[in-house]
Amino acid sequence: MAIKHSKIGVLTGGGDCAGLNAAVKWVVNTALDSRMDDRRGTKFEVLGIKDGWKGLAFDSENQSDYVEQLTRETVSDWDRQGGTNLGTSRYNPYSSKFKSSKLVIDNISKLGLDVLIAIGGDDTLTVAAKLSQEGVNVIGIPKTIDGDLVGTDYTLGFDTALEVVVDIVDRLRTTAGSHRRIMVIEVMGRHAGWLTLRSGEASGASIILIPEYDFSLDRVNKLLTERRKAGVRSDIVLVAEGAKPAGGKLVCKNDQKDSFGHESLGGIADYLSNEINNYLRIESRSVVLGHIQRGGIPSAHDRQMGRYFGIAAVNLAVRKEFGKMVSYLEGKITAVPIVNVIGKTKLVDIKTMYDTDSYNGSENILTE
Ligand code: F6P
Repeated sequence: MAIKHSKIGVLTGGGDCAGLNAAVKWVVNTALDSRMDDRRGTKFEVLGIKDGWKGLAFDSENQSDYVEQLTRETVSDWDRQGGTNLGTSRYNPYSSKFKSSKLVIDNISKLGLDVLIAIGGDDTLTVAAKLSQEGVNVIGIPKTIDGDLVGTDYTLGFDTALEVVVDIVDRLRTTAGSHRRIMVIEVMGRHAGWLTLRSGEASGASIILIPEYDFSLDRVNKLLTERRKAGVRSDIVLVAEGAKPAGGKLVCKNDQKDSFGHESLGGIADYLSNEINNYLRIESRSVVLGHIQRGGIPSAHDRQMGRYFGIAAVNLAVRKEFGKMVSYLEGKITAVPIVNVIGKTKLVDIKTMYDTDSYNGSENILTE
């Protein structure tokens, strides 16, 4: 049987996080495993596309800035590295700002890409779904520290970010205790409270405030007062960047939106810390964790999941199952149609996962 030649393009889009490089490494390793060529009837080549979708909107002069041949040697130690070595951007070719989707499609065919593997969250996968409708063979790999993507129980980057938040809370706890302070710590996650809830539970936060449940300032103050009366010296309050007081507004850093229409959230910890200071007259400090949460070397879990997702994406390419996102569901690596995933946000289920009295993780978690 004659062996076909097939070209895979791989890119990472949206916010960087740990685990992306591991996924790219395993796309490359699996695709370029020559032992498999006969069985697959295909010899693959892999091109890395730099800076997300922006890297496919090149013109004839700057193509070489955005396209790189990947070999097993190039990526051999990538799984241990944080961020994304391919680079990323929040570039939306379908936005009115860029209007470059036609150029992107032309460039995909100019590069001779038979398959495009897009690693990203809802924004990146929404572009992938649109390209799929226009006839491009796309495969998605889920990533986001926000953990808010539907259709998968795991998104790359979440576990490492969780470890980072817990580590920093442990550090802030010592200064909180020394000074008898209330530390209000702002955690990323956009409109979903997964990272805040899970890190709050793991770090033993006194209060956890998430976007899925608008908090009452009075209640926060009452809970903190009760703890002081009980002799507690210091407190950790974890607040999600997308959380807001009942009747209040989301706090944003500025009034700008990115090309996917997202506001720049940030500032709720400052607001809350001031309120606590003024009302309780207990010293409070705010700390915004910001992009530190996306940094650092990948946890073992992110390296492993990056590996499995990268392998699975190439398995889908071999089977010609396009328009799908690899996913981790109920303990198994599988795949779901990208169109079923996009435009939705997976949120914390308040009824089963959150205690609206104590503003903390639920104490009733047995499902049966
Ligand atoms: O989606 C990941 C995320 O880190 C969000 O939690 C956060 O709101 C946003 O990205 C920050 O985006 P940027 O890196 O563009 O500032």
